[in-house]
Amino acid sequence: MKGHLAGKVAVVTGSGRGIGRGLAIAMAKEGAKLVVNDLDKDPAEETAKLIKDAGAQAAVCVGGVDRRDGAQAIIDTAISNFGRIDILVNNAGIIRDAMMHKMTEEQFDSVVGVHLKGAWNCTQAAVKHMMEQKSGKIINIISLAGISGNVGQANYSAAKAGMIGLTKSNAKEFARYGINVNAIGPAAFTRMVESIPEQIREVMAKRIPLGRFGTPEDIAPAVIFLASEDSNYITGQVLHVDGGMSIAF
Ligand SMILES: NC(=O)c1ccc[n+]([C@@H]2O[C@H](COP(=O)([O-])OP(=O)(O)OC[C@H]3O[C@@H](n4cnc5c(N)ncnc54)[C@H](O)[C@@H]3O)[C@@H](O)[C@H]2O)c1
Repeated sequence: MKGHLAGKVAVVTGSGRGIGRGLAIAMAKEGAKLVVNDLDKDPAEETAKLIKDAGAQAAVCVGGVDRRDGAQAIIDTAISNFGRIDILVNNAGIIRDAMMHKMTEEQFDSVVGVHLKGAWNCTQAAVKHMMEQKSGKIINIISLAGISGNVGQANYSAAKAGMIGLTKSNAKEFARYGINVNAIGPAAFTRMVESIPEQIREVMAKRIPLGRFGTPEDIAPAVIFLASEDSNYITGQVLHVDGGMSIAF
């Protein structure tokens, strides 16, 4: 397939639903071969079917990024099916909101485990191949909560702030290998946003300068740009694709 990502092999974690699914399909339409990962089998297989229906190639790896063996299996799926890995999008995510004084250790550990440890796990497994190839693009999906903080989201905000630190450290470490590491802060209407109480959601939407929540399709062009060779001279950056939400809060 022709396109900005022609011939590239991409992994998108948590691509069974939401932003991850939108990114995986859009990247496949730009010519990438996709590894679809999710904790849940049916949505992951549905994403792979949508990619194949669009005439592109996809392989599925079901499992959690929060586990070392899960992350290794995802990257191994790219190598065994397509022979390399060019692009890693650390997108998988959960929220377990609670006020700090009531937050359980499980709520803290699970959220930090999927976002921060998950990104660390997958990156570590992927960079071994990228360093040998002397090329690669890593895109970490962060959140405005990681910059501004959020009531009831100490776990999530801390995990996303950690991912920003990971992005910048990894950008410095891997620059010499031709590996670019950047982050995207999205805002898109997904299952995750749907779980926010309606009243709060309405207030949030009104404060977005461009007047609406985005869609996964709104996020995809920026990810495709950072995954493509057009971004070879960009690393260690955080780009907000959020209708201006980040300047409004
Ligand atoms: N939607 C937004 O406005 C928004 C804003 C800021 C950041 N984000 C971030 O974008 C990313 C995608 O969120 P979304 O809104 O599409 O949510 P979503 O709930 O629609 O999708 C997340 C996917 O990740 C999967 N997942 C959960 N735990 C996993 C694990 N351990 N291993 C593999 N997969 C796992 C889920 O099964 C789900 O399919 C997340 O990292 C989220 O924090 C979203």
